[in-house]
Amino acid sequence: MEIIMLIGIPASGKSSFYQERFAASHLRINRDMLKTQARTSSLFEWCLARKQSCVIDNTNTTRAVRSRWITSAREKDIPVIGFFFESKLEVALERNREREGAARIRDAGVSYLHSQLQLPSLGEGFFSLFFVRLADSRFEVEPWNHFC
Ligand SMILES: Nc1ncnc2c1ncn2[C@@H]1O[C@H](COP(=O)(O)OP(=O)(O)OP(=O)(O)O)[C@@H](O)[C@H]1O
Ligand SMILES: [Mg+2]
Repeated sequence: MEIIMLIGIPASGKSSFYQERFAASHLRINRDMLKTQARTSSLFEWCLARKQSCVIDNTNTTRAVRSRWITSAREKDIPVIGFFFESKLEVALERNREREGAARIRDAGVSYLHSQLQLPSLGEGFFSLFFVRLADSRFEVEPWNHFC
């Protein structure tokens, strides 16, 4: 079993990456879909208890938010693998403006999450960490380790 944590501002590509790489094997834990922290936490606890691999598909932009998930997983010796998505504000705003309906959020929301972004590091307790860039409609993944 493994926990995958996606990290990146809105429209950085997290959910698309989940669909492409993990949908067939990992359960998706997403705050927008589940609505409340209580429901997200309870689904996560279920995954830990049942040894079900899952992906935490939230922005996870701060160390404090990441630490809650990492601490629970590590208490059960379950590895957490982080994927940080290139998070350029201008790119995210542009992609967000192209979105339709509820998927489109206020520019201020994107800017706020960008302003509070803290880059992840292995020291937070990740088993491994990767950098993901969306280039020419393809996800490029490389180890993050050498940035730490
Ligand atoms: N493979 C791809 N090729 C081209 N564009 C893509 C691809 N995947 C994602 N995008 C673009 O990136 C945008 C954001 O993708 P996605 O919804 O996966 O981001 P997100 O990080 O999950 O955002 P949020 O945090 O708001 O849920 C899409 O609306 C689309 O414009
Ligand atoms: Mg998403």
